[in-house]
Amino acid sequence: MSHRLLRRSADTVELFAPAKINLFLSVLGKRSDGYHDLITVMAKVSCGDLLKIRRTSPQEGVRVSCPGHEQLEDENNLVCKAVRAWLQTTQTEWGVEVVLQKNLPIQAGLGGGSSNAVSALLGMNELTEKKLSDESLRAVAARLGSDCPGFLCSGLCLAEGRGETIREIDPERSRELRGQAVLLFRPQIGFATPEVYQGFSDRGEFSDAKWARNRVCRWESGETSLSQLLYNDLEKSVFEKHRYFSPLFREMEREFGIFPRMSGSGSCCFACMPEGFARANEVRELILRSWGECTWIEDAELID
Ligand code: C5P
Repeated sequence: MSHRLLRRSADTVELFAPAKINLFLSVLGKRSDGYHDLITVMAKVSCGDLLKIRRTSPQEGVRVSCPGHEQLEDENNLVCKAVRAWLQTTQTEWGVEVVLQKNLPIQAGLGGGSSNAVSALLGMNELTEKKLSDESLRAVAARLGSDCPGFLCSGLCLAEGRGETIREIDPERSRELRGQAVLLFRPQIGFATPEVYQGFSDRGEFSDAKWARNRVCRWESGETSLSQLLYNDLEKSVFEKHRYFSPLFREMEREFGIFPRMSGSGSCCFACMPEGFARANEVRELILRSWGECTWIEDAELID
């Protein structure tokens, strides 16, 4: 399970909350509830945030602190919402204190907030015998955010609907990709998810569901390779507006033979690095030269 329990005592748990990348993301259409139907393959990566959850007395209420990111310390924080949802669903009257060590950039398409929320739910479950069942966890997670249920899957995950209908990808594919090196890189700007979806929707160029299913199916059955799966519909509108993505992607392809993609609604991108690839430093230099010294770059690998 990617949300690893790192430490536990009677009233405290510490958990790792991994980031995700979307190896495949197709948007099929806009729904009447304002969301978009999609088909996506999500993979968890080895970099992420840390959560320390402590059970306190009821009168202390629910408190979330996020050192260095005080703007995230309000009721809108998904961790806060997750803890409240857990308390309500299990009808438990506790106070809860969460310290969130944020390592992942926000507005990056890495699912940081969703992953934090899932860690909070799993962490709360660790503190009691009165656990939420897997089914309830999925239902609560889906209410918290479209990306949340995918984080409950072990291994690679296929998500459909607005993201809430999930299933595990064939374990053989997950095993093959476990440990796959990925380079994450994010320009010094974040994107708001609703705007990115809207920008894509406005173009009216949705993916065909049959095409999307076929592309995933052929990869999942072992007929095609990972590089033939990699795809993200949301790049189209983003790259049109933010002109600096395409030249860097083209250069990485041409110079190094690696094929970057944007993750989710961006702005973070990733490139799967071939085994034994010896020019990683040159790739990093190219990214920093193209997008500036403040570009966030992180070496990571795919995890279960
Ligand atoms: O579910 P979540 O709150 O994470 O979604 C944030 C926003 O992203 C939604 O309000 C919506 O604008 C957009 N979104 C979407 N279709 C999805 C997922 C997210 O339009 N499948």
